[in-house]
Amino acid sequence: MGESPFNVTTLKGKFIVFDGPDGSGKSTQIARFVQWCRNEGLNVKEVREPGGTSIGEQIRDILLATKNTEMTLPCEMLLYMASRAQLMEQEVIPALANGDIVVADRFVSATLVYQGYAGGLPVRWIEQVGEVALQEKWPDLTVIFDVDCESASKRLNPLLDRMEMKGDSFHQKVREGFLKLAENEPEKYAVIDSTASIEAVEGAVHTLVQERFCHPITSK
Ligand code: TMP
Repeated sequence: MGESPFNVTTLKGKFIVFDGPDGSGKSTQIARFVQWCRNEGLNVKEVREPGGTSIGEQIRDILLATKNTEMTLPCEMLLYMASRAQLMEQEVIPALANGDIVVADRFVSATLVYQGYAGGLPVRWIEQVGEVALQEKWPDLTVIFDVDCESASKRLNPLLDRMEMKGDSFHQKVREGFLKLAENEPEKYAVIDSTASIEAVEGAVHTLVQERFCHPITSK
C-alpha cells in the first residue's frame, strides 16, 4: 500500500466524476486515479456512462450507433438519463452506501453540455429529469479535463461514433459548455488542463482531490 501524507479515508463514500470533451484523455486518467485509490487501500466502484449496467450498455449501443441519424434531441437526452437512472439504482447508490468511493467516467455534466449547452435543450429540463435519475445523489466533485478541439481530434479513434461525428462547431461549444459549468459552480467543478503530459495531469488530479477532500495528517 502506498505511503500518503494525506488522510485518504475522507474519500470514502465520495462520488467523483471525470468529464470533458471527446479526446480529453479522461479515461486514461480514471484508470490511473482508480489504481491510486486502490493502492491507498480504498474500495473503488468505477462506472462509465452511457452504460455501466447490462441495460445501460444496450442503451449505449443505440445512442452511439452511426445509423441512428434520425434520433431527436429529447430522445437522446432521455436515453442518456435512462442509462443513468439504471446505473444509479443498480451500482452507484449501493456503492456509496457501502462507503466506497465512486468514480464515474462522465455523468450529468455531459448531458448539461452535449444536449443542453451545445445541443440546445433547456438546462432546466435536463435538471428536472436529472432529479428523477439521480435520486438526490449529485456528485461531490466533477473534474473537467479541458482540451482544445485540435489536440482532442488527434486523440480520437478515426472510426467516429454518432456523437463524435457532430462536427467542429458542436465540439467547440461542448468545450465552452464544460468551462461554463465550472465557472458557474466552482464548488462542484474543477478544471484541469489535459494538454500536459499524462503524468503531469495525473499529478494535478491528486493535488485537486487532496485539496478538496483530504486533510493533511499532522504529526504532533
Ligand atoms: P465516451 O466517449 O466518453 O464513452 O462518451 C460517449 C459519448 O456520449 C460522448 O461523445 C459524449 C456523449 N454523451 C452525451 O452526449 N451525453 C451524456 O449525458 C453522456 C454521458 C455522454
